Amino acid sequence: MSATVPNILLSNGVRMPALAIGTAPLSTSPSHSPRSHQGYVGFFPERVTRSVRLALDAGLRHVDTALLYRSHEQVAHVIRASLMEGELDREDFFLTSKVLHPPAEAFGMDDTTIDMDEMTPEEVGRTVHRHVQVTLRELGVGYLDLMLLHWPSPGGGVGGQAEGDGDGEDGAGARTGMAEIDPARRAKRIAAWRVLEHYYSMGWLRAIGTSNFHEVHLQHLMDDGARVRPHVNQIETSVYIRHDGIVRYCRENGIAVSAFSPFGRGIMGMEEDGVLVSIASKHGATPGQVALAYLLHQGFAVTFYSGKLERMRGNIEACDIDLDESDVDKLEGLQRSASWGLPSPYTLS
Ligand SMILES: NC(=O)c1ccc[n+]([C@@H]2O[C@H](COP(=O)([O-])OP(=O)(O)OC[C@H]3O[C@@H](n4cnc5c(N)ncnc54)[C@H](OP(=O)(O)O)[C@@H]3O)[C@@H](O)[C@H]2O)c1
Repeated sequence: MSATVPNILLSNGVRMPALAIGTAPLSTSPSHSPRSHQGYVGFFPERVTRSVRLALDAGLRHVDTALLYRSHEQVAHVIRASLMEGELDREDFFLTSKVLHPPAEAFGMDDTTIDMDEMTPEEVGRTVHRHVQVTLRELGVGYLDLMLLHWPSPGGGVGGQAEGDGDGEDGAGARTGMAEIDPARRAKRIAAWRVLEHYYSMGWLRAIGTSNFHEVHLQHLMDDGARVRPHVNQIETSVYIRHDGIVRYCRENGIAVSAFSPFGRGIMGMEEDGVLVSIASKHGATPGQVALAYLLHQGFAVTFYSGKLERMRGNIEACDIDLDESDVDKLEGLQRSASWGLPSPYTLS
């Protein structure tokens, strides 16, 4: 029997499919030749049309995008075609997008980012309003299922530089130092959050949340008068990197945690990892499937990218892998330095 993707019940009763196809295929090549496009550093939105189509074929129904990725139109193209052909209904899709990303200079696409340090809270609010409306218009399928604030402040994000010391706080793979909270940025975060609350109350967004927020960022939203507690916080999480303090806070406060980059962006050599390989052979699975099953077993929603149908099908099958306690103990031991990942939320002020 083929596996099905479980739903995660959000605190407002919305059901979110636990596996999402990401739409940020990324090149990280260090040198760039404009003539051949080789060495380009940034996203490949042109790959998204096919990968989202394959994801639907595989049985995935949750698509994760962001204004920054410039993949709204590709996602919209596939979903509208599916609606037009009567293949699926709007209610069958779960669409997540994100606004409020700091400038990512390497990509030179400032109209998708927000330079909050150059703006008043009112200006941040107005820009988030505009970006939510652009997102709804670009996706063009009515409401959005989940909208996230992408990054709590500048200093991180794709193509950005981390601030802070980056030592680990909670587990071998995370960092210890928490950058001091900047009161001006705090005021801008709540201004941005109020905009998401506005569209949520109107029904344009079925759920709202955050991404790359740590527990203090989240608590400050509530202390500063948020009427809606974030339904989801999306953070980088894999067998190699965990932020236990954030996860604990979210669980205690009814915030679902969504893990991004579960395969270490494909550069961590999971296929050769001895622990993953041995647990995989015990379950007749691949190392990647075990790494994914570990996250699902811990109750995370997971957003991964793949351009391959077989990989997507295999990732859905990972929902049925039943890890035992000894597997989980071994997998917990895989945490390692997070220096390869995106900046830790704890480096963001
Ligand atoms: N909120 C945020 O700030 C944030 C940040 C980064 C990413 N994201 C979201 O998360 C998504 C995924 O992140 P990501 O692409 O950085 O990381 P990822 O999903 O960890 O890595 C993608 C790579 O993993 C490979 N892969 C897929 N399934 C696999 C398996 N079972 N075993 C081994 N390798 C496998 C894919 O290769 P093949 O194509 O060959 O299958 C691809 O190269 C993004 O597209 C985006 O939507 C969010």
